[in-house]
Amino acid sequence: MLNKPFCKLTMFLCVLFMWVPLAWADNALSIVYSGNLDGELEPCGCSAEGNFGGIKRRATLLQQLREATPDLLVISAGGLLSTNGPGDRLKGEYILKGFVLLNYDAIGVQWPDLAYGPGFTADASLPWVLSNPGSEKGAEPLPFSTDRLITRGKQRVRFFSWLDITDSPLQKMQGQHGLADASPKKFHAALQRAKKEGELTVVSTTLSSKQFAEQVGLDNIDVLIEGAAYEVYGEARRENHTLVVQPGSRGMRLGRLDLTLKAGRIAGWQHTVLPMPDSIADAPQLQTWYDDYNAKVKADYLQRVEARKKQQSGQSPFVGEAVCQTCHEKQHKTWFDSQHAIAYESLENVNKAFDPACIQCHTVGFDQSGGFFDMNVTGHLMGVQCESCHGAGRAHVEAAGGKALPNADWSKEKICAQCHTQPHSPGFDFNSYWPKIAH
Ligand code: HEC
Ligand code: HEC
Ligand code: HEC
Ligand code: HEC
Repeated sequence: MLNKPFCKLTMFLCVLFMWVPLAWADNALSIVYSGNLDGELEPCGCSAEGNFGGIKRRATLLQQLREATPDLLVISAGGLLSTNGPGDRLKGEYILKGFVLLNYDAIGVQWPDLAYGPGFTADASLPWVLSNPGSEKGAEPLPFSTDRLITRGKQRVRFFSWLDITDSPLQKMQGQHGLADASPKKFHAALQRAKKEGELTVVSTTLSSKQFAEQVGLDNIDVLIEGAAYEVYGEARRENHTLVVQPGSRGMRLGRLDLTLKAGRIAGWQHTVLPMPDSIADAPQLQTWYDDYNAKVKADYLQRVEARKKQQSGQSPFVGEAVCQTCHEKQHKTWFDSQHAIAYESLENVNKAFDPACIQCHTVGFDQSGGFFDMNVTGHLMGVQCESCHGAGRAHVEAAGGKALPNADWSKEKICAQCHTQPHSPGFDFNSYWPKIAH
């Protein structure tokens, strides 16, 4: 008597357990997304709080995630490159090479990605997408796809990327130009086609969801990746039929969406943010790429050093800490015991003493006439010294203190802000930092 219902129950459970994972696999889709990299090939390592990214760690994390979820979809909203300094083009070249090794399924095109010309970007053979390319008469068509179909088992996902024309760096100079189309007509038609085919539509943009809804519209969009926030990812949220996510910038983290789909629509979702602290090892398969990059940066730097040596003429306005010490022994002692005195060694410790992007804040007067440019010629200006804060001191010294230093009328806060910027010193708080170096 007891047996029959028991059998039925076990049968039912068996069927249920067979069915559930199958049904799940059919209707499940996991997407890992990222936002702006902003030229951050690697974390600078300036502070623990700011140390959450880098392409080498990303490769390791993606590999782990793909092992656990083989059908994982990996997309980027773009914004990989930056144009802040002379080394950024070379870095950009390696960022693109690095991204090839990460095997992304689709990458949106943003304005910074076009800064070195569309050819520079397109040459990297990455899955770029620009959904509203301009159509200037006689101009070459842009070398990017307007959308990209990605299939995972039964799931078909179509990725789009909307380039905000109002954000164009050329807009102010030339008005309209051939890189982006302000009219969403073709874009709307493509979205509609995709939905008719039962595809899941994912769109990335640098606009906020609100601006995007106003300027372009959310119709037929299942997932919108809106403009990145500074470093930290936002909460995922529904806006009508669209699931909106907001990535963080500077390549610090990855976002993950685990979706349950029903008839090509999102029935359920779970959102997680994955940090990349230094407990995630660097991917060994990217070591050659990284060594190659560092060798190029070093060669580039040494070339500049040679040029600087030839240009050297006249007396430098900087004298170095040893000269200041002769009259300011007490202040010198305090400085000597501070972290500032070893700032150059910190670069040497991480094998970065040849990278102009780092030397800038870890020496005196880098990129200024007579400032630090090389250990052999300007070794007396390594580290953060008196003149990093007070300004070049030769005139003051020659007047035996009778002439004020260049930064004498700067506030303390302004002096620190030259280097203690948000990306490199996120925990900076003047009131707690100043006592540590006050002299
Ligand atoms: C805009 C200025 C700036 C630039 C550019 C910069 N740093 Fe720094 N760095 C700092 C500051 C400020 C600190 C101190 C941060 C703190 O303690 O709040 C620091 C600290 C460090 C430290 C010491 C960390 C520790 O644990 O004591 C290392 C190592 C370092 N930076 C490496 C680099 C490297 C490598 C680069 C280039 C990729 C770089 N920095 C570029 C300003 C800069
Ligand atoms: C030959 C001696 C001498 C040398 C070398 C010297 N100073 Fe001075 N410094 C003085 C004297 C004297 C005063 C006081 C001037 C006053 O109070 O009017 C002074 C004042 C200062 C002050 C406070 C007033 C101001 O102008 O802001 C600072 C800061 C300073 N020195 C920094 C430096 C630095 C940095 C160096 C190295 C680049 C340096 N000094 C090298 C003699 C010297
Ligand atoms: C990290 C920035 C920084 C460095 C490095 C630094 N100073 Fe200063 N120094 C300051 C600030 C800020 C003040 C305070 C100015 C004020 O009170 O408005 C100051 C004040 C002084 C004064 C004025 C008298 C005093 O003690 O308040 C002297 C002299 C001086 N510094 C000399 C030096 C010398 C010499 C060195 C290098 C051995 C040095 N400083 C390194 C930022 C720096
Ligand atoms: C020229 C760039 C530069 C300027 C200007 C500068 N700093 Fe720094 N500071 C650094 C760097 C680089 C480090 C990291 C040194 C290291 O550990 O290698 C640092 C480290 C420090 C530290 C040590 C942090 C720790 O982890 O203990 C303190 C404190 C500090 N700075 C305070 C200040 C204050 C206050 C000012 C302004 C009055 C200032 N700094 C101006 C570049 C600068």
